[in-house]
Amino acid sequence: MYILAPSILAADFSRLGEEIRKTEENGAMYLHLDVMDGAFVPSISFGMPLISSIRKASGQIFDVHMMVEEPGRYVEDMKQAGADLICVHQEACTHLDRTITQIKESGLKAGVALNPATPISLLDCVLDQVDMVLLMSVNPGFGGQKFIPYTLEKVRRLRQLLNERHLSTDIQVDGGVTLSNAEVLLDAGANVLVAGSAVFKGDAGENTRAFMKQFSEYEAKKK
Ligand code: DX5
Ligand code: ZN
Repeated sequence: MYILAPSILAADFSRLGEEIRKTEENGAMYLHLDVMDGAFVPSISFGMPLISSIRKASGQIFDVHMMVEEPGRYVEDMKQAGADLICVHQEACTHLDRTITQIKESGLKAGVALNPATPISLLDCVLDQVDMVLLMSVNPGFGGQKFIPYTLEKVRRLRQLLNERHLSTDIQVDGGVTLSNAEVLLDAGANVLVAGSAVFKGDAGENTRAFMKQFSEYEAKKK
């Protein structure tokens, strides 16, 4: 099954609840929440108070992308705020194994993210412990950037590696995803696509529907 994870970073925050609802009503199973600390990435976005307030507006899976140094510090707070899945950057964790264990012991799903220039070999030891791997297809920190083409090959290689190990781990791709590159990403082995600008710039309901249509057409084609 293919999953759309709209990133609210590109949404109009003055109408956030309404915008989120449009994505949920039209089939987006996840909601992607980009938390930035101004240290791991240059920008600062939002944190627990915003997440707990939108929790009331949505039944979607809250997929929290932690772009912060030592994200293990916030696992319990994020859980309280309503996170279902916490994704941490390999580059931001001194003790990655401990952080993943901490997330799983708190009862949440655990994901690990890699920047474009970080090789997938660094996940070798933890691959069978995580529910999702997030491959960044832009340098994290901002929405609205252009997809970096070489990251497509990382998706292919990671799916191949997971298959070899008989793992059905989710591969999420984040950054510069549009209706035009969605199909090649699915073909490469991604099954969770994050889209910020491509969903929230324009009509979020219509854009979500367009992604869902592509997913079902792709699924039909594959059969
Ligand atoms: C970038 C964030 C992304 C971003 C995606 O640091 O992790 O989730 O919001 O936005 P688009 O889809 O506009 O590239
Ligand atoms: Zn993200």
